Amino acid sequence: MYARVIGTGSFLPGNPVSNNDLAARGIDTNDEWIVTRTGIRSRYLAESGTNSSELGLIAAQRALAMAGVAAAELDLIIVATSTPDFIFPSTACLIQGRLGNKGAAAFDVQAVCSGFTYALGIAEKFIASGSHKKALVIGAEVFSRILDWNDRGTCVLFGDGAGAVVLEAAERPGILATAMHADGSQNGILNVPGQVCGGQVTGDPFLRMDGQAVFKFAVRVLAEIAEEVCAKSGIKAADVDWLIPHQANIRIIDATGKKLGIERERVIVTVDRHGNTSAASVPLALDEAVRDGRIQRGHKVLLEGVGGGFTWGAALLEF
Ligand code: UT7
Repeated sequence: MYARVIGTGSFLPGNPVSNNDLAARGIDTNDEWIVTRTGIRSRYLAESGTNSSELGLIAAQRALAMAGVAAAELDLIIVATSTPDFIFPSTACLIQGRLGNKGAAAFDVQAVCSGFTYALGIAEKFIASGSHKKALVIGAEVFSRILDWNDRGTCVLFGDGAGAVVLEAAERPGILATAMHADGSQNGILNVPGQVCGGQVTGDPFLRMDGQAVFKFAVRVLAEIAEEVCAKSGIKAADVDWLIPHQANIRIIDATGKKLGIERERVIVTVDRHGNTSAASVPLALDEAVRDGRIQRGHKVLLEGVGGGFTWGAALLEF
């Protein structure tokens, strides 16, 4: 039994915020630096009070509408997020409640920017086992809430948004292979090392990153895991129709495509307009390319994520 994508959806809050807009807000940066180092030109930032569940809910509704599936039919809801609305209940339960579904298993996955690929791999295993038939997998983030707006090395890189897919059990492919890995010894190169304790924030509640260490790690593991899922499926990386890598930095995306022999025309890029939306970046890019007609039924699509933990994950699917 395969897990087949039968609907995609996404949502970006408000209006694009350009690099010049950030500079005008007093951040010591400029468009030329950000574009040259990252490829990012703008991002979307949710208004205060707008949470991951609200972004994820709209993305989910759009994916369900494309799939022609009613929320009541879902038996599994997984949300990948590192910026949940609450400590608990999970963002998945909040979205489930707003969708009006009762009874589906619902939980969050925390694998930072790899979260969507982890969640997709988990949902695929539920469906392939025969235990579940219709799954909603969402990546939703409000990373703007955990950015230190005085740290120009990180605050210009991230944005808010959500993407979702509906999966259905099917006899024809489907997700062909998935992989997930982590190396917890690298937890210090990208983290938010704070917590709420006794009603107070302890530690540091902002995103901290060793950019160059993350860059090197990302380029290596994105190529390795792409080769791994291709080998599991008996497909050469160069033969996939579309590569959708995590959207963090155009230089990481280009280096990965080059290593895999996939030219830029077959790589879906949204980082220029969305910035890095963490777990939302891959499903946002997937939905964009499905809706604009680039990704067609039967195409082989390679999705991959990399992020804090350190974690990395991938899925190769026949759309
Ligand atoms: O989901 C995974 C998330 N993270 C990533 O994928 C990030 C991976 N890493 C990167 O993309 C890059 O390392 C960055 C874009 C974050 C940084 O690029 P870099 O080439 O590694 O720059 P750097 O951190 O070494 O900084 C170079 C210079 C510094 O100035 P000095 O010390 O050389 O005078 C920084 O202070 O650039 C300066 N700088 C900035 N200048 C203008 C850092 N941030 C900014 C900024 N605007 N926003």
